Amino acid sequence: MSETLVRAPLVLDDAAADLLFRDARTPNNFSSEPVSDKQLRAIYELIKWAPTAFNAQPLRVVLVRSAAAKDRLLRHLFGSNAEKARSAPLVAILAADLRFDQELPRVFPHFPQAKDVHFSDPATREEAALSYAQLQVGYFILGVRAAGLAAGPMIGYNASGIDLEFFPDGEHKVLTVVNIGKPGDDPWFQRLPRLEYEEVFSEV
Ligand SMILES: Cc1cc2nc3c(=O)[nH]c(=O)nc-3n(C[C@H](O)[C@H](O)[C@H](O)COP(=O)(O)O)c2cc1C
Repeated sequence: MSETLVRAPLVLDDAAADLLFRDARTPNNFSSEPVSDKQLRAIYELIKWAPTAFNAQPLRVVLVRSAAAKDRLLRHLFGSNAEKARSAPLVAILAADLRFDQELPRVFPHFPQAKDVHFSDPATREEAALSYAQLQVGYFILGVRAAGLAAGPMIGYNASGIDLEFFPDGEHKVLTVVNIGKPGDDPWFQRLPRLEYEEVFSEV
């Protein structure tokens, strides 16, 4: 099927689809152009509307911008990830709040018992926090792109090191570290192949 026919059912305009998906890339290096707090707030005010189970919203974001903060983070990143983060004007540590249940009576008020009925067991609660927040990681990446910035997510790090360094309360777990900014010079390799529709979809 031609590209035009495939795209026809989309109601999102082409420029937005390109910005969010088709032209958006994961840079390996960044320009020094800063990322502002206004941009970050705009990103959050957009992505906060994306859905989570029980409306639980367990994602928490720690911003790493100063040289001192970068030093604390970079020593936990594996291999070339440290250089990638060093070049980014801003790095966000995306983590799951394992005590998201405490907000449930406020954010899911029509079923206030959810907190005790579904999440009183710590292991179940942790599993939920990680999976619900991981979904928000995806929203976060798209939100960054919606602000005209590039996101470079990374999971190549010492997770327990980052947790101890940035979340000493033991109530948060890192999910992804995301470099944010404008791409630098020669920022990426050739685009990697994606699976075809037929490889991914089936109907029963
Ligand atoms: C959750 C997640 C974790 C990733 N971890 C790393 C990483 O540790 N190091 C790295 O260089 N790239 C990492 N990547 C980047 C992916 O390899 C990249 O997004 C993918 O190959 C698509 O590249 P493209 O956006 O340029 O098409 C990660 C991407 C995601 C979404």
